[in-house]
Amino acid sequence: MGKSIAIDGPAGAGKSTIAKMAAKELGYIYVDTGAMYRAMALYLLRKGVDRNDTTAIEKACEDADISISYENGQQVVLLMGENVNAFLRTEEVGNMASASSVNPRVREKLVALQQKLAAEKDVVMDGRDIGTVVLPDSKCKIYLTASSAVRAKRRYDELTAKGETCDIDKIEADIIERDHRDMTREHSPLKQAEDAVLIDSSDMTIEEVKDAILAEAKRKL
Ligand code: DC
Repeated sequence: MGKSIAIDGPAGAGKSTIAKMAAKELGYIYVDTGAMYRAMALYLLRKGVDRNDTTAIEKACEDADISISYENGQQVVLLMGENVNAFLRTEEVGNMASASSVNPRVREKLVALQQKLAAEKDVVMDGRDIGTVVLPDSKCKIYLTASSAVRAKRRYDELTAKGETCDIDKIEADIIERDHRDMTREHSPLKQAEDAVLIDSSDMTIEEVKDAILAEAKRKL
């Protein structure tokens, strides 16, 4: 087992931005587990699988070949050997990922892939169940959150900077709905591990959050 930092928290708390920065400073590999659930979702969308059809999802899950490689330190997700990074960050894929990740077969398959990566390398891994299920023995666990209003504002700023028009109240309502689904699902719901440190980034800068995590890593690892 390599060394690991396990970061969990709801969508939009800043996990990936901060995990990437921390990984770079420590010389660890950044593992984005959400991207794996998104790749599975992309496969389901491409196959035209209905999000409520459990049997079809489990069949597709068996057929889907998902693997990870690294190019210039960047995680690349391969779906049937194809680099699909460019297709993963859409609302459609995110919603399908949130829906299909409730399936225990989907989770089993991707958790095995995540554990294999952590066994081979030192990792900063982010997701929803890293401290609770994927790496329960990790010595450094962080639960990173922020208020739904702050997360909605960050997403709103991101979209308007890209020239998109959007409704901040609708964004916040979507965030609350996704949190609820991720936190109340039967298998591996999003929750803070007992031995995780809570960081609320609502009133913190990215630098401050990164420093807090690096300090925690120094203490624990
Ligand atoms: O972090 P993200 O938005 O890329 O994740 C997309 C979806 O995948 C999210 O709604 C829940 C699911 N997910 C999960 O169930 N477990 C993880 N470790 C990571 C993501």
